[in-house]
Amino acid sequence: MSTSPAGIRNVLNETRVFPPSEQFASKAEFNSMAAYESLYNESTADINAFWEKQARDHIHWFEPFHTTFEWNAPFAKWFVGGKTNVAFNCLDAHVLAGRGDRVAFHWEGEPGDKRTLSYSDVHREVCKFSNALKKLGLKKGDRVSIYMPMVPELPIAMLACARIGLIHSVIFGGFSSEAIADRNNDAQAKLLITADGGWRRGKVLNLKQTANEALEKSPSVEHCIVLQRTKNEAAMKEGRDVWWHDIVANESSDCPAEPMDSEDSLFILYTSGSTGKPKGIRHTTAGYNLYAKRTFQWVFDHKDEDIFWCTADCGWITGHSYIVYGPMSAGATQVLYEGAPNWPEEDRFWEIIERYKVSILYTAPTAIRAFIKWGDHHVDKHDLSSLRLLGSVGEGINPEAWMWYFEKIGGGRCPIVDTWWQTETGGIMMSPLPGAIPCKPGSCTRPLPGIVPVALGEDLQEVGVDHGGMLCIAKPWPGMLRGIWGDDARYQEQYWTRVPNHYLTGDNARKDEDGYYWIMGRIDDVINVSGHRLSTIEVESALVSHPAVAEAAAVGRPDEIKGQAIAVFVTLKNHQPDEALREALKKHVRKEIGALAVPDDIRFTSSLPKTRSGKIMRRLLRDIASGKEGTGDTSTLEDFTVLAKLRSDEES
Ligand code: WTA
Repeated sequence: MSTSPAGIRNVLNETRVFPPSEQFASKAEFNSMAAYESLYNESTADINAFWEKQARDHIHWFEPFHTTFEWNAPFAKWFVGGKTNVAFNCLDAHVLAGRGDRVAFHWEGEPGDKRTLSYSDVHREVCKFSNALKKLGLKKGDRVSIYMPMVPELPIAMLACARIGLIHSVIFGGFSSEAIADRNNDAQAKLLITADGGWRRGKVLNLKQTANEALEKSPSVEHCIVLQRTKNEAAMKEGRDVWWHDIVANESSDCPAEPMDSEDSLFILYTSGSTGKPKGIRHTTAGYNLYAKRTFQWVFDHKDEDIFWCTADCGWITGHSYIVYGPMSAGATQVLYEGAPNWPEEDRFWEIIERYKVSILYTAPTAIRAFIKWGDHHVDKHDLSSLRLLGSVGEGINPEAWMWYFEKIGGGRCPIVDTWWQTETGGIMMSPLPGAIPCKPGSCTRPLPGIVPVALGEDLQEVGVDHGGMLCIAKPWPGMLRGIWGDDARYQEQYWTRVPNHYLTGDNARKDEDGYYWIMGRIDDVINVSGHRLSTIEVESALVSHPAVAEAAAVGRPDEIKGQAIAVFVTLKNHQPDEALREALKKHVRKEIGALAVPDDIRFTSSLPKTRSGKIMRRLLRDIASGKEGTGDTSTLEDFTVLAKLRSDEES
């Protein structure tokens, strides 16, 4: 591939700017660009001093730390010598402050069953469960896999581990037995916590059966705790398996939180590499807790009266940081929902927002694009006037999807926080502070306090304004991963080798003349047409701005003349695919971006291959577009039939 010193071409020309309303800004903690800049400049003038103060003010310490930061590159230690407990910060701190009656969760199951749990309720259930875990013989530092539906017992299980120093590894409830066994074995988990089943689109997912198959191949696991959720058949193995309700029945609700060292591991979360086995991203105690808490408060401008709803599953980092550890450290009241957004109808989310008067909604572009496709009439049936702030995470949000979210869901009055971050970063790295930073559709705007991003060209120099380059983070931060479980060499190689002394994110980004960042997609996904390097999101956003298009994925395929040709895969709203539309889309891209970006192939498809967390898997589409049999890892693919359909649809 040729190296262009200019980096990746910026072809997206998005000029709309949306400052926060007077009304929003007047109540926000940070309410002007000057307020943001003063906080940011203070943070970077002396990063250690900044985090030291944050940690002293916002974390409860059993014993204070003596050193803020130790760097044995690329291995970081934050708040060295301190002792704290994350479950204490999430629960006891509120109960002791007389705020135990505050609602922690308004939970709703997919069939419509409801439970409300206060912070005192969660505290009690966590203590009982921690005591039960101790009785099973689990000791500080042991690993525990959790494979559960989105019921309150999932955060309870996570917090119960944290309370007594067990390291949890949450495995999303949609994963196969193979994936569970791989994770159990890599972490050498001693315990698996699961449920008989969970509800998804009106059907019971038999989690215990999948867990049983995994346990056949997981020799390290000695016990399996089973929550009764759906009451389906669940084969229990004598001596290994126990019911959740049996083991907590006689447990005391008194269980002191274990003082944990700042750098003790809190959890492992597996995330897919593009090839090979998944990586166990390791996060530790104090730095992660502080970072999740403060970023939650900054980005969501959280107030006591807010009802916060993050629609992610606890099986992803978003659920860890912005359902469990961030919001609960901040004492937030949340909505938790078990099931699918289109059950029993496509208006389920809007119904939930109306019922609980949700004020902050945090969801993913894949969901937003589905809502657009399902149609506005589902939204129109409900009163969404309780919303004051919207958020997006997981992928770039195409400007047209952003506009729909802003106007249709936010009624034009709610800022959108487009939050860029990763499993590895532990918490949000770039996002508007909603009362301070005007939004631009498609941009994650500016870095949060203490975060120093930089976009580098292949010569490792910073690229110029509006040129794309490898997005790196120049200074360590408390929420950063501390390693890959059991594989220091891979940690070093993956994140710290290509660019010396910088954390390599794996994404490309550009900075515009206002210092706003625009994420351009994964480094590996760049398309190189006749020596011009194009980012996937820009071609896709141009397509999505056509009224017929619901979703689009752009990839490069080999081309003898141009190096790479652009192949796009497109799903439509309510439109028939035909030659005329294909031509119209090419014209549209030519108008929006220019001749350079006009796709060579346009394939219509009913769905795109996605990860189980909803990201488009361009790597698989690249194989299809170039007529190759795929060889990479497909274990994170959500729906295997999509690939078969795409392959058999050669002439679609
Ligand atoms: C992508 C999710 C553009 C990006 C929290 C990143 C985004 C990867 C955004 C991490 C965003 C996440 N705009 N791209 N706002 N948020 N991404 O580990 O490629 O599941 O590197 O963490 O998602 O995904 P992960």
